[in-house]
Amino acid sequence: EKGNFDHFMLKEIHEQPQTIQDSLRGRLNAEQGTITLSGLEKIQDKLREANRIVIVACGTSWHAGLIGEYLIEELCRLNVEVEYASEYRYRNPIVSPKDVILAISQSGETADTLVALENAKKQGATIFGIVNVVGSSIARLADAGAYTHAGPEIGVASTKAFTAQLAVLQLIALKLAEIRGTISNELFQTLLRELDDVPAKVEWVLKNQVENIKAIARGYKDAANFLYLGRGYNFPIALEGALKLKEITYIHAEGYPAAEMKHGPIALVDESLPVVFVATKDVYHEKIVSNIQEINARKGKVVAVVSEGDDAINDMAEAVMVVPACHEIVAPLVAVIPLQLLAYYIGVERGLDVDKPRNLAKSVTVE
Ligand code: M6R
Repeated sequence: EKGNFDHFMLKEIHEQPQTIQDSLRGRLNAEQGTITLSGLEKIQDKLREANRIVIVACGTSWHAGLIGEYLIEELCRLNVEVEYASEYRYRNPIVSPKDVILAISQSGETADTLVALENAKKQGATIFGIVNVVGSSIARLADAGAYTHAGPEIGVASTKAFTAQLAVLQLIALKLAEIRGTISNELFQTLLRELDDVPAKVEWVLKNQVENIKAIARGYKDAANFLYLGRGYNFPIALEGALKLKEITYIHAEGYPAAEMKHGPIALVDESLPVVFVATKDVYHEKIVSNIQEINARKGKVVAVVSEGDDAINDMAEAVMVVPACHEIVAPLVAVIPLQLLAYYIGVERGLDVDKPRNLAKSVTVE
């Protein structure tokens, strides 16, 4: 079933142009300039009246949720909270019938997420599921939803389910912005086209960066720690890159907002610390360049995910992983790919079982 690939994880990474496409198909029509999301339309009235959206998830799905927060707040001007399901379920949260809860789960069986949703539903909230496994517990509990179409994910480390979640969150944010009248037609059309171009851009990374990333993996496989930094839409991608590395390579890694670095983590930086910057070209670019300079000044080893043609960072980093230029709002979908590959190849270099990392289960059905 792995076909020509050594591991499910690698196969699933390479499936992403297709699985992102599958998650957009029948929903996004860039030529006609429309989005159809029947699940969202079903709860339109609730969404129009909603005070806020609460996103509930765990792990990688929680990282997708953070990007969802940025998207919905920016495009829909609606307040969003992102909650770890395990905290939300136990801390007696304030839930009202005017809350719409977005539940994000690949498996649809994560115990903490499921119980958090059951509690919120009892208190009258509307539950919208973004789930990969059809007919799973969370999918059945939800009042409405939009499935991700990533297909079965076997590797314990989530890859293609994450990008499918991001694709669906993009559609939700855009559709909701249209419903709420908070987006100009011009921006709406631009973002539809950008989203439509994502599968080809992911394909480009998989065609053109694998050898480069393998070499980078060989160079850094013995590091004891990694720091991952990003800003804006790429901050959750830094968190996700660090989680992938921890799960697959057992190297300690931390993700941080790049500007938060000076409030503590910068104390860790010395010549033995690789610092991975997610530094695609966006409104924060100048700021992230100065964050890179701060690391360079302390002799940290900078590895950066950069947009094609961005020579400024090329000259400042020890290694770069290149992705095609894209609008900052869709950038996370493309920027995460090199980080998945980096974790994978470092894990392989270290001789580890990347599909079944120690201590982890594919779905966490215990609390
Ligand atoms: O099935 P879910 O999306 O609810 O799972 C949530 C987390 O357990 C999951 O994302 C976990 O963090 C993965 N191992 C990440 O690679």
